[in-house]
Order: sequence, then structure tokens, then C-alpha cells
Amino acid sequence: VVHPVILCGGSGTRLWPRSRKDKPKPFLPLIGERTLLQATLDRCGDEALFAEPVIVAGSAHVCHIADQAGETATVIVEPAAKNTAPAIALAAALLPQDAILLVSPSDHHIGDVGAFLRSARAAAALAADGWMVAFGIEADRPETGFGYIRMGEAIAGGHRIDRFVEKPDRATAERFLTEGGYAWNGGIFAFRAGAFMEELAAHRPAMADAVRKAVAGGRYEGREFHPASDPFAGIEGESVDYAVMENTHRAAVVPAAMGWSDIGNWEALRDAREGDEAGNRVRGTAELVDCRNVLVETDGPRVSVIGLEDVIVIVDNGEVLVTSAAGAQRVGRLHGAARQ
Ligand code: GDD
Ligand code: MG
Repeated sequence: VVHPVILCGGSGTRLWPRSRKDKPKPFLPLIGERTLLQATLDRCGDEALFAEPVIVAGSAHVCHIADQAGETATVIVEPAAKNTAPAIALAAALLPQDAILLVSPSDHHIGDVGAFLRSARAAAALAADGWMVAFGIEADRPETGFGYIRMGEAIAGGHRIDRFVEKPDRATAERFLTEGGYAWNGGIFAFRAGAFMEELAAHRPAMADAVRKAVAGGRYEGREFHPASDPFAGIEGESVDYAVMENTHRAAVVPAAMGWSDIGNWEALRDAREGDEAGNRVRGTAELVDCRNVLVETDGPRVSVIGLEDVIVIVDNGEVLVTSAAGAQRVGRLHGAARQ
């Protein structure tokens, strides 16, 4: 069986005003009726393949997890937010060392769950052989917010990773696309718990040591596991991509053509949702006349739009956001988003 490890961190600036600090992206039903966290749990619901999930989250969000996941998961409550390498390491140190972990963010959309499960099986088989496995997404634009994977020699179900470059600058990303043979890192990983701890100890020994101590000194409260906060507090926060994936020599990638989106902003969310014939997407009460590719979402007031294309209107809890689709990337710069 495979142990799902679900990362539930993150702030709520890029999908402001719907996503806010106290209730960020994973806890909102942004695509269908289920929240992104619930959809992530649903994907790992097949008991023939998956063990009960472990969710790693901060204490501020434990209440939302209890509401949405109920009694279906163990929650590791992080003493502090230290980015993804320590968060994953908490789960890897807590679970049996021969357990195969499937690490997933809880703020992504996956359109084709069947394809996800096929990649998950291939990744689990490679992980059992000791590989640190990433999910490779077809790269179709020089996005700088992602990790880039250069695919090497073919191995069963995937490829060796020749090179892993986290968040390259624009010119480098453009060069990778021209060169070809690169995939984006989807942020989903599979490995044996013990293999991860070995790689972490090799490349970030202080972090591995502190996490082991935090887990050894931790305690259960019902379904919650609370690591000891002292050793954890001293950790220098770093993502798994920089700490492990850029450095390990045992990295592999499985291709994952699964309708993946990280829903990084309102434009990406619009594109992940089903549109009508004119490409408009509406939630709530709205009237659109002669509009194309317009996204409207309102929690109350009626929104009326005439003659616009590629425009986004969000009304939520007394805040109104109006932006061009292209401007959606800059929402984080707004005072409202920054000062919530
Ligand atoms: N529990 C916990 N604690 N979760 C965290 C923490 C933390 O301290 N920090 C981040 N996370 C969660 C986020 O909520 C998200 O679901 C996931 O871990 C990834 O973190 P991001 O901060 O969103 O990473 P990123 O988007 O900059 O980059 C990663 O994802 C890209 C794909 O979306 C990298 O893995 C890239 O290489 C990758 O391309
Ligand atoms: Mg992200």
C-alpha cells in the first residue's frame, strides 16, 4: 500500500478575495463541489491502493481539516511553518521507514483522476526500488514559478532525472523549452520514508536531525500528532525541491498527463472550470451580455457585465475584485490581498 501524505500549508493571497489567510485555497470548493483538500483525499480513497492519509498542517488550519476530513486522517500539527522539506520529513520520520509515501499538495486541481492513479502506481513501483520520484507535467510555457526536470535515461515506468532546477529565471525557462526534453515538476512525489530521510541526512543533516528529534519528542492527542516544538523551531525553512530534489542522485520522474493545474491565480482557475459556449464561467447571480471568457463569482450581489472579454469579477464578503485575465497574476500586490 501507499501512504498519502498531504501538505496543507500556504497563505491566501493569489486568489483573494475568496482565499484569505484564515481560510486559504485548500479549504475552498474552487472547481467542483468538493474543496481542494477533499478532492485530494478523494483521489487517494481507493483502499486497495492507499493506506489512511496523513495530513501535515499548521495549528491555525486544524479546525478546517476536522470539518472537511473528519476522522479519516491523521494530522501532523507543525509547531511552525518551515516550508515543504521539514513538513514532509515529519511524516517520513513518523511513518515506518519501509512505507511508500505519496506526497501531494492540497491546492491543485487534477482533471483526470484515472491518469493520476496510473502515474501513482508507476511512481510507487519506482519508489519501492529506492527512487525519489517526481510527477512530470508537460511544460508548455516558460513559467518561472515551477521546478524543471530534464528527463534522462528511460527506466521502468519513467525516466531518470538528469537535472532538477527549481524556479529558473525567465531566460533559463525559455532556454529549457527551446531545448526540449524538460517537464515541470507537479509537486507530487513518491519515495520510501527511509530513503527520504537518508537523502535529507546526506544533503541537509541539521534539518534531518532536528526533525528526528521533534518526532521522537512528539505526542499523540487523538488523531493529531504534535511534534516537539523546540528542535523544530531552530530549523532553517526550505522547500523539498531545493533541499532534496536538486541534490539527490536517485531522482526519477513519471510522466503525468492528468489535466493538472496549480490554480495559481484567477485566470488559471477560470481555465480549469468548464465554460459555456462563449467560454463564460458564472457562479452566483449574474447577467452577461455579449461577453466572452468572462469569470464571475459572487456570494450575494448580482453582477451585470456587458461587452467584455477576458475579464474577471469576484465579489466575496464585502470585497469586489475586477481584473483583466492577464492582470490576475498581480492580485497579490493589492493592499486588500496583502493586508488581510
Ligand atoms: N504543511 C505545510 N507546511 N505545507 C506547506 C508548507 C509548510 O510549511 N509550505 C508549503 N506547503 C504546501 C503548500 O500549501 C502547497 O500545497 C505545497 O506545499 C507546495 O508549496 P508551494 O509554496 O505552493 O510551492 P511552489 O508552488 O512554490 O512550488 C512547488 O510546486 C510547484 C508545482 O505547483 C515546487 O514543488 C515546484 O517545483 C513545483 O513546480
Ligand atoms: Mg504552489
